[in-house]
Amino acid sequence: MTFTHSIHPFKSISPDLLPGIAKIHLEDAGLLSRLGYPFVLRYFENAIKDGQAFGFYARDDETGEIMGFSLASPEPSALTSKLTEDKAWFVKNIFKVVFTRPLAFLQMLVSSVTIRGQMYEPNTIECVYFTVDPKFRGRGLGRALQKSLMDEGRKRGYKKIYASVETWNTPSLKATQANGFRIIKTFREGIYRRHRLESEL
Ligand SMILES: CC(C)(COP(=O)(O)OP(=O)(O)OC[C@H]1O[C@@H](n2cnc3c(N)ncnc32)[C@H](O)[C@@H]1OP(=O)(O)O)[C@@H](O)C(=O)NCCC(=O)NCCS
Repeated sequence: MTFTHSIHPFKSISPDLLPGIAKIHLEDAGLLSRLGYPFVLRYFENAIKDGQAFGFYARDDETGEIMGFSLASPEPSALTSKLTEDKAWFVKNIFKVVFTRPLAFLQMLVSSVTIRGQMYEPNTIECVYFTVDPKFRGRGLGRALQKSLMDEGRKRGYKKIYASVETWNTPSLKATQANGFRIIKTFREGIYRRHRLESEL
């Protein structure tokens, strides 16, 4: 099957398309997805309003369907912290996670310590997420969405981009390495074993 698509900056996305982004993101095996849909939706609502984060989404030109997206930030932990800004919302929703997904809650504690220990150098960005709807995978879209982050990062004057990819995630590793990233270390973060990759911009 062939498809024609176009790639657009995240900032121009209409808020009513964010639930579609959140649903695609639930296909990611990472911690945010494990916390559940309300956290994912809130995260992307915050991301499009964030002054530093930037990203792209791909849309099928014929049907208008969202096919995938990518997101980068020079300070990803600040983006995650925004989930706690509305304290009443956070407490209510994290309480549900504690009882329904206790392992995800424990992982969140481990990850928050690991992320705090990660050094963020000036002039660098993190490829925070890139995800493609399963029905559109394997045709170069993931690679193109990540490449858009690299091109935009370069335009904004950043010098380097980092990414963390789980060691089992061959599609992500292939796309990321095809974009010029190289593995600089492998580390454990709770249940996750990840490669840390970097590329010059
Ligand atoms: C990672 C992801 C975005 C890649 O999207 P995509 O559109 O399929 O990516 P691309 O087609 O550009 O590249 C994928 C590469 O992996 C290969 N691939 C796909 N599935 C594979 C598999 N099961 N085993 C081995 N290789 C595989 C593809 O052939 C392609 O390699 P090629 O360019 O050498 O042919 C997509 O798989 C995804 O959304 N995964 C879930 C979310 C996720 O893990 N995101 C990354 C978090 S770090």
